[in-house]
Amino acid sequence: MIEGCIYNLPNPMARHASSSCLLLLLLLWISPALVSSTCNEHGEKDFYIVYMGNQADNKDEAMKAHINILSSVKQSSQKEAKESMVYSYTKSLSFNAFATKLSPDEADQMMEMEEVVGVFRNRYHKLHTTKSWDFIGLPQSAKRHLNMERDVILGVLDTGITPDSESFKDTGLGPPPSKWRGSCGPFANFSGCNNKLIGAKYFKLDGSDPPEGEILSPIDIDGHGTHTSSTAAGVPVANASLFGLANGTIRGAVPSARVAMYKVCWSTSGCSDMDILAAFDAAIHDGVDVVSISIGGPLADYSTDSISLGSFHALRRGILTVASAGNDGPDLGTVTNHAPWILTVAASGMDRAFRSRIDLGNGKSIIGSGISMFEPKAKLYPLVSGADVAKPPYDNTSSMYCISDSLDAKKVKGKVVMCRLGGTGPESTVKSSGGVGTIIADGHYLDNAQIFMASATMINTSLGDSIDKYIHSTRSPSAVIQRTQEVNVPAPFVASFSSRGPNPASKRLLKPDIAAPGVDILAAFTLKRSLTGLKGDTQFSKYSILSGTSMACPHVAGVAAYVKSFHPNWTIAAIKSAIITSAKPMSRRVNSEAEFGYGGGQLNPRRAANPGLVYDMEEISYVQFLCREGYTSAALAKLVGSRSVNCSSIVPGLSHDSLNYPTMQLALRSTKETTEAVFRRRVTNVGPALSEYKATVRAPKGVEIRVEPMILSFKKAGQKRSFKVVVKAKPMAPGKMVSALLLWQSPRHVVRSPIVIHNPSG
Ligand SMILES: *[C@@H]1O[C@H](CO)[C@@H](O)[C@H](O)[C@H]1NC(C)=O
Ligand SMILES: *[C@@H]1O[C@H](CO)[C@@H](O)[C@H](O)[C@H]1NC(C)=O
Ligand SMILES: *[C@@H]1O[C@H](CO)[C@@H](O)[C@H](O)[C@H]1NC(C)=O
Ligand SMILES: *[C@@H]1O[C@H](CO)[C@@H](O)[C@H](O)[C@H]1NC(C)=O
Ligand SMILES: *[C@@H]1O[C@H](CO)[C@@H](O)[C@H](O)[C@H]1NC(C)=O
Ligand SMILES: *[C@@H]1O[C@H](CO)[C@@H](O)[C@H](O)[C@H]1NC(C)=O
Ligand SMILES: *[C@@H]1O[C@H](CO)[C@@H](O)[C@H](O)[C@H]1NC(C)=O
Repeated sequence: MIEGCIYNLPNPMARHASSSCLLLLLLLWISPALVSSTCNEHGEKDFYIVYMGNQADNKDEAMKAHINILSSVKQSSQKEAKESMVYSYTKSLSFNAFATKLSPDEADQMMEMEEVVGVFRNRYHKLHTTKSWDFIGLPQSAKRHLNMERDVILGVLDTGITPDSESFKDTGLGPPPSKWRGSCGPFANFSGCNNKLIGAKYFKLDGSDPPEGEILSPIDIDGHGTHTSSTAAGVPVANASLFGLANGTIRGAVPSARVAMYKVCWSTSGCSDMDILAAFDAAIHDGVDVVSISIGGPLADYSTDSISLGSFHALRRGILTVASAGNDGPDLGTVTNHAPWILTVAASGMDRAFRSRIDLGNGKSIIGSGISMFEPKAKLYPLVSGADVAKPPYDNTSSMYCISDSLDAKKVKGKVVMCRLGGTGPESTVKSSGGVGTIIADGHYLDNAQIFMASATMINTSLGDSIDKYIHSTRSPSAVIQRTQEVNVPAPFVASFSSRGPNPASKRLLKPDIAAPGVDILAAFTLKRSLTGLKGDTQFSKYSILSGTSMACPHVAGVAAYVKSFHPNWTIAAIKSAIITSAKPMSRRVNSEAEFGYGGGQLNPRRAANPGLVYDMEEISYVQFLCREGYTSAALAKLVGSRSVNCSSIVPGLSHDSLNYPTMQLALRSTKETTEAVFRRRVTNVGPALSEYKATVRAPKGVEIRVEPMILSFKKAGQKRSFKVVVKAKPMAPGKMVSALLLWQSPRHVVRSPIVIHNPSG
């Protein structure tokens, strides 16, 4: 399947993909550089990650143990074992594991070993202004805690970074904080770090040569990592734009925070489990405060996914992981990175969109979307449908999609061509056949702007049908595509591509957690690649406009760093809670999947720094939750890294979900009887010492919610108060979900917890 191949950003072609990896060559819409040509062959030997039961005390001992176990399984000498060792995860000593190449038999034997708690095969993951900060209420003038902000380090796992970008200038910044233990280069083609970009590393443990055009260096030849890093923590750069579009000052949430890049994604292979885990190991060792990871996997459970595992070890060292929800929406149940210790981010749209007008020869105009910076030279051009201008041996089944080389140049030269979307870059095909413009018709992803390498725009299929009709109803049809303009649209809305809940891994946990801007985001880019990466594209820019939950994630990571700069001692759970309960409500009317689309709602940075109350949690709570979810000791051992986890001897949390999570989710158990559940929660006062909060509950028809007690009084900062929420829900139709709400309100704060009730058997 798609495993082993990657694509990046919302991808209009993803839905056309079948199980063949060859299709991936067609798959890439925005970022062909990230297309995979080599799929993971299920051949004899493969890379595996081996989890050991006991935490190691020191590096040498751990490595020795790894070699020993490898040599006994392979029945080889220590020297040979050493040679087959790919990597020992001993940097942070926060977990004990190694990567190696094994045959399936050897992997089975490895699992039998006394010291080993888990063995899993390495898989490959995909990558999933500025106006956006002003749009969500963090203006440049917002209150900041500069002394603290300078000490916050943001670790980004991505495609690398552009060190000479203006977004990473270190003007006015002193040396890195003393807790920093990371390093940087020197690397090939990498101008080096400074006091802003304080660390850079790359990971490529499969040992294969770097893909064509790439080198072993954290340099970003894709643009994705440069873009996400500058969105989270870039310094302000005035007058940034994409050829004048989206012109303004781009900046991160925390312009004084430090950035460390861990390159784990490569253009042909994607981002492998081995590399991701090694990057987490390094980031934990180096002393980052927040990890931002805009990468998503094939769906997996909490104990065998490298992002879930790595972020769990990060959690134990007080490091928050913020991750993208995925770009597989609007289908339900597609959300990834859904562990309770991860802050999972959906993408929302802003009130700005990019549109191009198509003028037709019959005097009508149609509005298309996308970014096309080409000024037409004539008033109108002849218009043809790709289906009518096939070049033999191709027929209209190829040419209607304007598949590469399928068009007859004699019939296309000087014309505008209408294509259905069926492959990468139809405008590139049209241009190389001498065409002057491309109208692309498709039913998906019209709410974010694709960048085109030649004059083009995108419309929906019904408008495509009407243009088809026009083409075939007149002797000399004609059209022209105007240069793209910015327009205002109603917002916020959850982007169509943003992955939706319900959480496929757990019925008791609402995911995604939060929505943040991820549509048409302008941020720093690389000059090492054209804007589209398509053949013949001559557009290069230091800034580009990208869309994806990949772009939403660094907004939240930046805000987590912002919150941390005010509250350096808060736990991960407290920071997450602050961000989720302060979110701005989004409209269920506009977003029909409601919380399954936006979680708590739209990111609200300034309120996140001052939430009033937080739902705090310790590590043991997550283990209780997993026990409650039915995880076996063996599965838990992989995660916790010790053989001794025994759910029967862990006091079960009494609550429905065993978590002190800031949101609640109830899956109905019966289609005939009322389902009842009790959620036990405890809040910590982080607002004024003397304060009183009153509960307000909103429940839809068929749902009854009781909160006990209804009033919480605090006399001190840091004081904790417990309460319970009893939810009774009548049966509802399969697949249906309804939204309820618990608000704790004081004169100065509103602490908002969505309660979702759904019938999963849909
Ligand atoms: C690295 O630098 C060399 C020499 O300047 C250049 O030819 C090559 O294209 C660069 N590669 C990358 C990936 O930047
Ligand atoms: C802003 O950028 C544009 C294009 O890059 C340039 O022409 C213009 O002079 C710049 N303006 C300022 C005030 O820097
Ligand atoms: C961007 O806006 C600034 C100030 O509003 C203006 O000076 C500059 O010329 C604009 N740049 C472009 C490329 O439009
Ligand atoms: C493609 O060609 C076939 C046979 O000539 C024709 O029946 C069909 O309608 C054409 N399809 C399109 C989309 O033009
Ligand atoms: C296609 O787009 C037009 C114009 O935006 C809109 O009026 C129409 O409802 C859309 N059709 C569909 C099927 O989405
Ligand atoms: C945070 O913790 C450190 C060390 O544990 C302590 O010295 C410091 O006072 C704490 N800061 C706050 C604001 O509580
Ligand atoms: C787990 O704990 C229970 C209760 O303490 C005990 O009876 C059981 O033997 C333990 N299981 C294992 C595998 O240690």
